[in-house]
Amino acid sequence: MTDSVHFSRILLCSSDAIEEGGEVMPFDVVHDGEECRAFAARFEGRVSAFLNRCTHVAMELDFQPNRIFDDSGQWLLCASHGAVYHPESGECMGGPCHGGLVRLQVEEEDGQVYWIPDAHTQPSAD
Ligand code: FES
Repeated sequence: MTDSVHFSRILLCSSDAIEEGGEVMPFDVVHDGEECRAFAARFEGRVSAFLNRCTHVAMELDFQPNRIFDDSGQWLLCASHGAVYHPESGECMGGPCHGGLVRLQVEEEDGQVYWIPDAHTQPSAD
């Protein structure tokens, strides 16, 4: 018997809906039993996804909806107190963060972006 569980991937959006270093694509998840927002971002051509939850205080990162990249398009920035995260790894790069963002698994294929749920992060019931 194995304890690995496989989850079907879920279509998030078309690839061109996530612009490089620009607006992120939001989606809703349940993380460890708690409703939470998440987002997918594109950096250097690749898509990454994270919980939309700062590690300083458990608040959403964006003050203006879906604007999490800084003006340079190089960093993810928390609007509350300026924590800075790497857009591909989610690693804390500066400011008051306590560790990196929670990373979610995504893949891109044939012009579509998919999220792959895992044991901690499941689709929202909505
Ligand atoms: S809540 Fe994000 S930096 Fe304080």
